[in-house]
Amino acid sequence: MIRFDASGTQPFLSGDAMDRAHASVLAARRTLVDGSGSGNAFLGWRDVLRSPDPDLMDRLRSDAEEIRERADILVCIGIGGSYLGARAVLDALGPYFGPGRGPEILFAGHHMSGAYVRDLLDRLEGRSVYLNVISKSGTTLEPALAFRFLRKWVEDRFEDAERRILVTTDPEHGALNVLQREKGYRKYVIPPSVGGRFSVLTPVGLLPLAAAGVDVTALFDGAVDAFHAWESEADNPAVRYAATRHLLYEAGYTTEILAVFEPRLAGIGGWWQQLFGESEGKDGKGIFPSTLQYSTDLHSLGQYVQDGRRTLMETFLVADEDDGGLTVPAWPGDEDGLNYLAGRTLSEINRKAFEGTARAHLDGLVPVMRLGMDRISEREIGQLLYFFQFSVAVSGYLLGVNPFDQPGVEAYKKEMFRLLGRP
Ligand code: PA5
Repeated sequence: MIRFDASGTQPFLSGDAMDRAHASVLAARRTLVDGSGSGNAFLGWRDVLRSPDPDLMDRLRSDAEEIRERADILVCIGIGGSYLGARAVLDALGPYFGPGRGPEILFAGHHMSGAYVRDLLDRLEGRSVYLNVISKSGTTLEPALAFRFLRKWVEDRFEDAERRILVTTDPEHGALNVLQREKGYRKYVIPPSVGGRFSVLTPVGLLPLAAAGVDVTALFDGAVDAFHAWESEADNPAVRYAATRHLLYEAGYTTEILAVFEPRLAGIGGWWQQLFGESEGKDGKGIFPSTLQYSTDLHSLGQYVQDGRRTLMETFLVADEDDGGLTVPAWPGDEDGLNYLAGRTLSEINRKAFEGTARAHLDGLVPVMRLGMDRISEREIGQLLYFFQFSVAVSGYLLGVNPFDQPGVEAYKKEMFRLLGRP
């Protein structure tokens, strides 16, 4: 289970800060668990774990099996919450290089680069391709445009194009439903009560992940475990994380860095960034979430983190066990001066880099939190996803905002559509 360690924040919070906040933290948690807070029509991400749907899992597995048998490439079309979760989990669990455990998974519709779409279509040529278009509203411009290109490409090449396109969308509304009804595409429903950034454990994330060969049952069960463990436990790690970062925010630490030392966790950082940014950043309030991948970023933003404006707090996400990697060989002559590391695994060295960085940043007056998991596995990643979802909801209520809306994202769309002359 996920562990939270806030000892590196103590020097930055007054001794009784947590005691004084205790009542409001408990109230924020209760608001979530009771479903009595703002945005309470969007708590479906908890319901799917409370009452799992075995028929849905069977259907997902069977469609995924077909995709795995017939497709060389599955293109997932979606943006924001309709794409970041699947990508994060795939990155976390897949191999760094080469073929994974299923068809290659490519993404589209997460921006509007023309060069990207052109190169993607080139890459698909001569391959057996399936599409999963994922959009709750069915009207988001980026995925809708990408789908227009990709649908035509698939229809021009495959007689069974309708079979190769799977739609994940709202039960009734939106343009995707019109197309789906007309063409008879297979459809998965995004429950209306689940917002995009909370949807990774619905078909939004589960279908692409199952197609990629991820054990979605273990992933989902991990989240279910976390749901039950923390439902009855008022003082749980997700609540403590929410409370600690909130107290730091009130003390003037307005940016949080989620730092990972294992590159495969960087996608989780991207997903976390959206989850926390869209849930908390509103009404002139909120912690700015930013994710860094160390030690790579220690050679760029590391300077700022160590020595720049002191408004940063940092959360290290680390797994205790990994595969160790290679052992450093001894080298006769020791020309590069690295024989002092001979016999140690790269993973052990990376661990020391983490410990050293955490200590240095603490000395540089950055409050440090640690999130630990035993290993990077389906089950633990499932727990982690729910950990962050639960935490951000409590955190939003502590901040006094509705954690489940995102009114701010409409502003750019309004201006863009005006410039594009949308009728
Ligand atoms: O979290 C959210 O609600 C957003 O990031 C959406 O997921 C994103 O805007 C995509 O929306 P849609 O699925 O309607 O295309």
